[in-house]
Amino acid sequence: MGDVSGAKTFGAPAEVYDRFVGRYSRELARALIAAAGVRPGSRALDVGCGPGALATELVALLGAAQVAAVDPSAPFVEACRRRLPGVRVELAAAETLPFADAEFDHALAQLVVNFMSDPPAGVRELRRVTRPGGTVAAAVWDYAGEMTLLRRFWDAALALDPSARDEGRFMPYCDPEQLAELWSACELAQVSVSAVIVGADYDGFEDLWQPLELGVGPAGAHVASLPAERRAVLKQDFRQRLGVAEAPFRLTARAWLATGRVP
Ligand SMILES: C[S@@+](CC[C@H](N)C(=O)[O-])C[C@H]1O[C@@H](n2cnc3c(N)ncnc32)[C@H](O)[C@@H]1O
Repeated sequence: MGDVSGAKTFGAPAEVYDRFVGRYSRELARALIAAAGVRPGSRALDVGCGPGALATELVALLGAAQVAAVDPSAPFVEACRRRLPGVRVELAAAETLPFADAEFDHALAQLVVNFMSDPPAGVRELRRVTRPGGTVAAAVWDYAGEMTLLRRFWDAALALDPSARDEGRFMPYCDPEQLAELWSACELAQVSVSAVIVGADYDGFEDLWQPLELGVGPAGAHVASLPAERRAVLKQDFRQRLGVAEAPFRLTARAWLATGRVP
């Protein structure tokens, strides 16, 4: 099974992703589900499911038969299928969803909109597969502000190389206004954007750093592109900016939750 377009940054094994941003995903999923108003008895789609954190929370609420998921990354689709028997999991991108019109009550995309090759086309597809009156909802990190892990990482990366591709500057949708405009432009009604703060626990700095060495996500890809000497300098500066050591600590992260209703 090959990857389809949009998956390049997320070709890492599911377990590596779990130890990177996946640590925040279950708590974030519960907040997104609540914001979208998902209730037992409804049918929901997880778009860009990754290894399945949001789908897992949807299954707990709705049951496996009521949940479907897609992702363009083959290792993530395999992991999601393995972890969630009974859920229909397809290798597909948001821009071309393999579902009929109005099949779902809710279509959700957690930490995915910024990775879509064509976000307006992707959000319109979420809208197409959602019934009138249903909700389309997404979570995106506050990359430029209070997503502590990634903000401190890119601050350290920029100090070493001012041309580093800081997600806080390059992600097209990382503030509430941009998200609300996208939702409205995709003809969703009752658009609302709220903030949520979630957290993740680490055993120590090495526990945080190791997945990055394995190239996961844009931050991991940046680390993997550096020669050993520069990588060591970045690692040291990043640790200092976080103000942590080889002892357990917790980081918090702010995300924006966008919701809209299909007219
Ligand atoms: C940061 S991960 C989020 C994974 C999961 N939703 C979570 O919250 O843990 C971004 C995901 O978006 C997927 N992705 C990338 N391009 C996509 C696209 N065009 N359509 C749908 N998903 C996409 C990636 O393969 C990856 O699984």
